[in-house]
Amino acid sequence: MKFLIAICIILWACAYTTMSRTLSESSVVESHQQWMMKYGRTYKNSSELEKRKKIFQENLEYIENFNNAGKKDYKLGLNPFSDLTSEEFIASHTGLKVPSELSSSKTESVAVPFNVNDDVPTNFDWRAQGAVTNVKNQGSNCGCCWAFTAVAAVEGIVKIKTGNLISLSEQQILDCDEQSTGCDGGIFYTAFNSIVQSGGIVREKDYPYIESKQTCKLNGQIAAAAQITGYANVVSNDEQQLLQAVARQPVATRIKVGNEFQSYQSGVYSGSCGPSFNHEVTIIGYGINEEGKKYWLIKNSWGESWGESGYMRLIRESGEPGGQCGMAEHSAYPTI
Ligand SMILES: *[C@@H]1O[C@H](CO)[C@@H](O)[C@H](O)[C@H]1NC(C)=O
Repeated sequence: MKFLIAICIILWACAYTTMSRTLSESSVVESHQQWMMKYGRTYKNSSELEKRKKIFQENLEYIENFNNAGKKDYKLGLNPFSDLTSEEFIASHTGLKVPSELSSSKTESVAVPFNVNDDVPTNFDWRAQGAVTNVKNQGSNCGCCWAFTAVAAVEGIVKIKTGNLISLSEQQILDCDEQSTGCDGGIFYTAFNSIVQSGGIVREKDYPYIESKQTCKLNGQIAAAAQITGYANVVSNDEQQLLQAVARQPVATRIKVGNEFQSYQSGVYSGSCGPSFNHEVTIIGYGINEEGKKYWLIKNSWGESWGESGYMRLIRESGEPGGQCGMAEHSAYPTI
């Protein structure tokens, strides 16, 4: 009898653990399938499906553990990038590359200091001024964050100076900036210079983004919709200077994207940063949230499904000398 009871207990225990393992496996399968439907993802074959499901599971577990711990002022979540490893994500969605012929002294020659005592609002958002176009998407096959960053900054100053918000062409810059290495990377400094050299920049709809570098199609047939005269740098490593600049117009900057950026969903991000600069974004505002956390408001080029409808709030004055993730080290704005 004792023996039978022992057998029963063992059988029950086995069944129970098998059942819970199957349950969690099936809930992962279900979550993955729902996610695939939501973002229209398909895979070429079953081994690719298995591989991606496993990565998805790791990301999902990381996100749930992070959010359940509830220790931070930001949340992570599933998004179109949830079946990529962080290495794959960073490699395919960033694109900062400083051209070898450009010494850093060349790109950092002009820095016009602002008076940091100038009155600026406590909270400021260029979207509320109508100076920011829709969030765009560089896609997963072209490392040209630098072109999107430059264009967003130009769109901002054009609206401020002319009253017209015009969506402008990243593809023009990608094709015509010969100092960059196209989809292999570039920097916004040469993007600004290429706009000057091209005699301006055309509308997005006249020269739409196709996620690959082609030959420059500016041949005088398409009229430029906006002009700039060049750019000016913000004094480096000084978030008060950066604040003054952003209060005047959207500002292009360089950041070190770390692993948690991939799954950022909302809140004031203070998570991991990369070991070196790998991405560029446009700062379109700043503020202080209800908990008193200061933040920078960033427009990214990863589509509207990432972050706060394509935007991120990144912690401001975190104590890092160059700003969180280095975001106050290399900043510049186009001049008109
Ligand atoms: C499955 O698809 C992946 C990705 O396209 C490919 O690398 C791999 O060789 C394919 N495997 C089989 C067994 O066809």
